[in-house]
Amino acid sequence: MIYLTRKAEFSASHYYHNPNFTPEENHRIFGKCNNPNGHGHNYTLEVTVKGEVDSRSGFVVDLKQLKETMHFEVLDALDHRFLNKEVPEFRTLIPTTENLAISIWQRLKPKLKTAQLHRVRVYETADLFVDFYGEDSQDSE
Ligand code: NI
Repeated sequence: MIYLTRKAEFSASHYYHNPNFTPEENHRIFGKCNNPNGHGHNYTLEVTVKGEVDSRSGFVVDLKQLKETMHFEVLDALDHRFLNKEVPEFRTLIPTTENLAISIWQRLKPKLKTAQLHRVRVYETADLFVDFYGEDSQDSE
């Protein structure tokens, strides 16, 4: 089993708000991030796939397909977007880095053909990142 990671960057804006919270709760829990005018981040995405090395090509994955899938399924949908308003799942889901990682996983998983998705890592800043290994990560392998 070998692991391959491809990196990409995107910029997006968001704000945090839960309509089931009172205004006071939203303010207390989300602080400045609750401002509905939003604020931006330069995100870094790392997508890791795993598989066996193909003995004929020496590759674990079709790199072109991985790059194109990340481009069409993730970057086209998220880059330079106001996540809360322009990305369907974030009309109801709070666009935290946690939920971004899950959303990116769900966008990529059905589209990757040869290699198996292993991890989606999203950096919100250089000092903060989230890892998602899929819903069944506890009992897979
Ligand atoms: Ni933020």
